[in-house]
Amino acid sequence: MNGIRERWTSRTSFIIASIGAAIGLGNVWRFPYMCYENGGGAFLIPYIIALFTAGIPLMIVEYGLGRRMQAGAPTAFAGVRKGAEWIGWLALMVVMMIFLFYPVIMAWCVDYVVYAFNLGWGSDAKVFFEKDFLQLSGSPGILGGIRWPIVIGLAVVWLAIYLSLFKGLKALSKIVFYTVITPWVILVIMVIRGLTLPGAIEGLKFYLTPNFAALLNPRVWLAAYGQIFFTLSLAMGTMIVYSSYLPEKSDITNNSFMVSLANCGTSFFAGFAVFSILGYLAQAMGVTVPQVTQSGFGLAFITYPTAIRLLPIIPAFFGILFFVMLLTLGIDSAFSQIEPFVAGFTDKWHISKKLVLPVVCICGFLIGIIFTTRGGYYWLDIVDYFASSYGLTLVGLLECIVIGYIYKAHKMRDYVNEVSDFKIGKWWDVCIKIITPVILGISLILSILTLVQKGYGGYPTWATLVGIVFTLCIIVISFVLMSIRGKPARAEGTED
Ligand code: ALA
Repeated sequence: MNGIRERWTSRTSFIIASIGAAIGLGNVWRFPYMCYENGGGAFLIPYIIALFTAGIPLMIVEYGLGRRMQAGAPTAFAGVRKGAEWIGWLALMVVMMIFLFYPVIMAWCVDYVVYAFNLGWGSDAKVFFEKDFLQLSGSPGILGGIRWPIVIGLAVVWLAIYLSLFKGLKALSKIVFYTVITPWVILVIMVIRGLTLPGAIEGLKFYLTPNFAALLNPRVWLAAYGQIFFTLSLAMGTMIVYSSYLPEKSDITNNSFMVSLANCGTSFFAGFAVFSILGYLAQAMGVTVPQVTQSGFGLAFITYPTAIRLLPIIPAFFGILFFVMLLTLGIDSAFSQIEPFVAGFTDKWHISKKLVLPVVCICGFLIGIIFTTRGGYYWLDIVDYFASSYGLTLVGLLECIVIGYIYKAHKMRDYVNEVSDFKIGKWWDVCIKIITPVILGISLILSILTLVQKGYGGYPTWATLVGIVFTLCIIVISFVLMSIRGKPARAEGTED
């Protein structure tokens, strides 16, 4: 990375890599249950509004900033104003919180691919997941020993991440084609399989029947904005560093629209795979769809395996296919979380990527072992909550303020318009300066109030306090990293 900046081999590689970063586990387990918990089909209204007023505008900010500054998040923010560098580091600290637990969920998928060969979860997938597989300890206070099958899965995932990244962008440009197209092909197969099952239509009705009354609830709107953020991999430094590898004069607006729409379209499509099979499961068990529906991880690791076991033809094949789909969906999101982190260090101190990457992968694996313990599931949930609800929202809010008011929205808009075919108007300034920061600010305040009043997830207060202290620590670390002198940062807009 010293001297000449790496480049994508083509615009298509960049777009595919960005789509791969955005489309991840969140599209399959997060979006469908967000929909049914927040008004079913009516949720699509705030979701689409969130996409156009926050998702795409912020994607344009991140692409614009990365492309303009030709650097990862910290150096890019330092290019706007020296004192803003910590915001870039904060994004990397938040993405670090995510990349410590995200590969653990993928490790579960590795193990479940193996179990799928003989439908090893048996007749009670819930008991299998919680008691046999995770062997839950009952409290975050009891770590209770390591679950070796998960550690082995975790080692496989980190090795795959390392191998994907160590050869640089040329190899990555090729790898992303497979990691984006494979899950899409499997998703299509799963949707066709789901829709041709009896009872599928009941599941789809449950997924899509709109409950417009839900739109009056502000929480539904906040959920939509939160989901857009997570799903587009915004505020993680990923889109900034990916666009910093774009060649000169690369389009920004079109790319932002394409990546965002492809990602959200995939989420919507994945809902068909999930709910058609839930409809089938409900019919097979003689109950209603809500009775078989679980939220969060339960959907992928309990409900779906239960339904797969009841499939009339070659259930093991569909079981393998489903977990391979999750793995291939997750892998490009996982390495897109490591790349900005590594680039933060290589850009500022010009340390060789060959040195930083293995250190990050080994440390990520070793620290991740905490989440493979019997109490690790609870910590995974707590870290996910703090990173997604506070970390990403805070970084997004700060990005809007820095670009909207310090760099100046109109200046960024002029730059973006200069290099893009499709020009953005003043509506974009309004989104970046007012709509997005206001909504993110309200979201942050409401989340903090709920945390103070109710704690999180029924965990003991001390566990929530650990989450708070950890979050405050990463803010302090961001300032410390900013204050350590680097080799001279690239000047604003420097070209190679
Ligand atoms: N955007 C990634 C996902 O949806 C993080 O999983």
